[in-house]
Order: sequence, then structure tokens, then C-alpha cells
Amino acid sequence: MTSECYVYVTLPETTEPVVAARLKVSSDHQGNQVGQFVYGNSYLARPNCVPLDPGRLAVLDNKVKQYAGTSAIFPSLRDAAPDRWGRLIIEREFGGELNELEYLLYSPDDRAGALAFGLNSVPPAPLWQFNRTLQLPELLETSDALLKKEPVPDPIVAQQVQKLHLLGTSMGGARPKTVVEDEEGLWLAKFTRPDDAWDNPRVEHAMLELALSCGLSASRSKIVDVGGRPVLFVKRFDRERVDDGYLRHRMISAVTFLDASESSADRTRWSYPLLADELRRTDIDQANSRRELFRRVVFNALISNVDDHPRNHALIADAGGWRLAPAYDLVPTPMIAQDGRTLAMVVGDQGRVATRDNLLTECARFGYEWDEASSLIDEMRSIVENTWYNTCRSLGVIPADCEQIANAFVYPGFQWRDDIDADEAPVPVPNF
Ligand SMILES: Nc1ncnc2c1ncn2[C@@H]1O[C@H](COP(=O)(O)OP(=O)(O)O)[C@@H](O)[C@H]1O
Ligand SMILES: [Mg+2]
Repeated sequence: MTSECYVYVTLPETTEPVVAARLKVSSDHQGNQVGQFVYGNSYLARPNCVPLDPGRLAVLDNKVKQYAGTSAIFPSLRDAAPDRWGRLIIEREFGGELNELEYLLYSPDDRAGALAFGLNSVPPAPLWQFNRTLQLPELLETSDALLKKEPVPDPIVAQQVQKLHLLGTSMGGARPKTVVEDEEGLWLAKFTRPDDAWDNPRVEHAMLELALSCGLSASRSKIVDVGGRPVLFVKRFDRERVDDGYLRHRMISAVTFLDASESSADRTRWSYPLLADELRRTDIDQANSRRELFRRVVFNALISNVDDHPRNHALIADAGGWRLAPAYDLVPTPMIAQDGRTLAMVVGDQGRVATRDNLLTECARFGYEWDEASSLIDEMRSIVENTWYNTCRSLGVIPADCEQIANAFVYPGFQWRDDIDADEAPVPVPNF
């Protein structure tokens, strides 16, 4: 069992990784897993060395840093590991479940952020070969087969395709995806799943566009047609193409930044106002980032994006320091309930409930005066209410799918207040 490795980082403004630290996983006398991390002296001697995260690994010294949590892997290093989808593929390739360190070691180098892991004191050369759009039909076919737990078609093709897939499995998340390069740079390519109830790629693309029109900083995206099936391409904000390769920005999830639990069973620190407070202390553009975060919460409430857990928010860092990353994974969730809807994280004084009133309770922590926040919410509400349908339709979402997701948008309870009788609330007028 592997229990030790080197941690490499691609430093800001460079394209080649260097050795930064060693990570060791061991058991204490009670049998708990403990992680030990130490920056290397050669790394500390570099004039341009940077901390790998703004939290547990923030201090650049040669003292051993210890971590014992649900796993022994420091949270910011865990952020570089694959989630459900990537693990499924790695397990298929390596035949069974691996330990946390092995998932890091066996996942390919296209992972989120600037880190890499290996057993050698010399870091591997940066990856040059990425999946190309041309290979997507094969990748889609294997993805379907893997999800249906069918044998992957033709064993020889299957082997090649697994290799291709391994060049794109380290990004997190549960949906099938890979990383693809085209003339514009690197993209996260998100596939349909056989059990999708509607056209997820086009709907997610439409939400990212709608977010932009509401003034959010959202990831750039486009739809690529692969043999008649849509694939959502989301431009990677942690990679920047330059003449001799890719610059890589360090990246941590809001799980790590908030020091929050991974699991929804413990939401103690799953909170937007708390995230705003933490941004105030760390983000190099904190005033703008906190306001951006507020618009994001309002938007999530208006489109019923209730999957807004802390792994769906991130921070990135270049040479200048850490800042809130653009929005991604924006997905509407239609629901029967018309009165209250809850987001995954605390919104305001009334907890997670996605209402106008609750959003306003803590607006000051995001840098908004009450009046300004109130007008902003009304403005965004009107944009979402009046344009979601046409945005979806103009980007190719069929009317039947629009109908299925319709009640995710500006649900009636968004405007209700505790003191208003539900019967008095305005009846929503369908938009189509
Ligand atoms: N535009 C992007 N640039 C860089 N990393 C991204 C981008 N979008 C998502 N990610 C990373 O990839 C992970 C998976 O993407 P996401 O859209 O959340 O997929 P899923 O729908 O499977 O949850 C995210 O948790 C985040 O770490
Ligand atoms: Mg996600």
C-alpha cells in the first residue's frame, strides 16, 4: 500500500512543475490515519515559492504539518483528487478500490489546480497530450457503457478509450466528463447521462449564459454536437494557454476554504455569509468577490439551484493571491413545493430558505446596503423571470424540456414573507 509521495506544483507564470513537499500517511496508536506534510528546503529556497493553500498549508516553513480528518489527506490536496466519476474510471482501470493517496497518484495530470503527485523526486514533464474533440464519440460511448455497468464495447477499442478517458478523469464532480483541448484551450466536457430527464448540457449552458446576463462572473461555455448528442464545454478557469504550455492556477474548493465537512450530514460551516467573511480576510479582491458571491446566491435562489454545496464553489490563485473563482455547475431543480425552497448552504438569518427576505438579512456581510441589495434582487428577478425561457430556447433547449424545468424559475415562495398569507401571494403567470 502506498503511503508516501511527493507533491509538485506548477508555480505562477511558469509551465513546468517543481517539487514542493512530501506527504506521508500513517496510523497513530489508536489506528487513526494521520497525514504529515512538509515543504522541502529546496522549494522554500525558491524566491518565487508560494503556499499551496491559504489555510493549513499557508505557512511556508519546514515544520511538519499534521492533519487527521475523515481522511489523512489535507483538504486542499484532496481538492486535486477525482470524485465519483473519476474514481469509477480509475477503479475500472486498476481493478478495485484504492486508498486516498492512490487516487491522487493514479489520476492523470489534468486535475483541477496547480498540484501534481508522484513517487519520484523529479516531477514528470507536463502533459502535452489531451483529448481532442475528434475523440468525443468514442468517449461518449464508453461513458454510457460505464454508467450502465455494461462491458465496454470491443476490448481493443475499449482499452484505447480507457487510456483516453484517463487523460481526463481527475476533475471532480459526479457527472460523466472529460477534459478536452481545442484551438481555444482546455475545456471541461460534460456529457449527457442515459438517465437524464432533460437536455442537461444545453440547460446548463443556458444557465451559465443567464448568469452572465444577471451580472455574474460565470464560466464561459459552449455546446459541441457529437454525433447528434450535445456535450457541454466549460472553459477551464484554472488553466491558461501560453506559448510553451499551460499556466496553472492553484485551486481549492469552498469545502477547504470554509474548513467545512464534505458531507451534508454536517452542514455546520456550509454558509454563504461565512464564506463572505472568509473572503473578506483572504481574497485579494474581497470587496468585489463578496458582492459577486451575493449575486450568485440570489441567482441560485431564482433558478432553484439547490445543488450549490461548497464543492460547487472554488477559489483560484495566480501570483497575486487567492480570489473567488467564476461560477460553475449551475443547474435548475424543478420542485413541486411552491412555498419554501432551500439551498444547500445557509443564506441568511432564516437559514437555508431561498427567499427574498432571507437573502436581505445578511446583505451587509457581502458588502451591500439593504436598499441596493433589494433593488438588485428585483432586477435579477425580473431578468430571470422574463428571459429564462427565451435564453433556453435560443440555445436549443426544446419546448418540452423548458416545460419540465419551468417551475424552477422564480418560484412563488421566493417573494413570500412570513407575515403574508400564502393565499394572498400572486399566482405565477407561465412564461410560455
Ligand atoms: N470552468 C472550470 N474550470 C476549472 N475547474 C472547473 C470548472 N468547472 C468545474 N470545475 C471543477 O470540476 C469539478 C466538476 O465540475 P462540475 O461542473 O461541478 O461537475 P458535476 O456536475 O459533475 O458536479 C468542480 O467541482 C470543480 O472543481
Ligand atoms: Mg459539481
